[in-house]
Amino acid sequence: MGEVYEKLMRCYDSVRKQIDFTPQVALVLGSGLGDYAESIRVEATLDYHDIEGFPVSTVPGHKGQFIFGYVGDVPVVCMQGRVHYYEGYPMSDVVLPARLMKLMGAQVLFLTNAAGGVQLGMHSGDLMLITGQIASFVPSPLIGANLDELGPRFPDMSEIYNRDLIQIVRKCAAELSIDLKEGTYLQFTGPAYESPQEVAMARSLGADAVGMSTACEAVAANHMGMKIVGISCISNLACGISPVPLSHKEVQEAADKVAPQFKALVTRTIEEIGKTCR
Ligand code: HPA
Repeated sequence: MGEVYEKLMRCYDSVRKQIDFTPQVALVLGSGLGDYAESIRVEATLDYHDIEGFPVSTVPGHKGQFIFGYVGDVPVVCMQGRVHYYEGYPMSDVVLPARLMKLMGAQVLFLTNAAGGVQLGMHSGDLMLITGQIASFVPSPLIGANLDELGPRFPDMSEIYNRDLIQIVRKCAAELSIDLKEGTYLQFTGPAYESPQEVAMARSLGADAVGMSTACEAVAANHMGMKIVGISCISNLACGISPVPLSHKEVQEAADKVAPQFKALVTRTIEEIGKTCR
């Protein structure tokens, strides 16, 4: 058995010893959704520090715990705080939590993040449904010996973001009168924000938003056959489009401002997933 798989199984055993809960949906909370826990009927929480070998985030504003509970009557596990590649973790650690949540039983991975808007027509405070992604600027989490227990060596990537879930988000946004944007998310490594030239490149490649997370998690989850749905909160216009320099504080403040709408959309979507994906 490889080291990566062994570590994953150690984390899984550690969680199972402490928590007896089978989630249907795994939700990763990005900036701005940090307090989404308030929308969950919480059954249990598990600090990342209490999971043997689990990678713990160092980013300000990112708490580090799993929350187990219900959104409506849908059992969810929710990551309050994720780890990023730029923190220095190997990619296998960055995607370990997503893999772990699949092992817990989650069939759906709901990814959220804050991102910089790249296409003209995007505004700070927009919500963008992720319909596709470019992960080529970060190492693949699947590099190394294939974990045959999790998925195939050469996984198909033609529908990373599940078509049915995309429809559900569109419907929920319309019901909530949210002007939902859609587009392609491109992941850079960070931690520096992009230069104007990199943003121009991203735009010419077809990206609509850029960020420092999510796509690698989607690659690993797709490998395991999870159904994936993703929404970006456009917290700022990316560098070169924005008239002002970027700061983490302002990105967080902008994400916080749109949080009520974002939370409503996430809640409605999860409830709908519960109805249609049993
Ligand atoms: N670039 C990269 N990541 C981000 C941005 C950005 O402009 N905003 C929020 N996360």
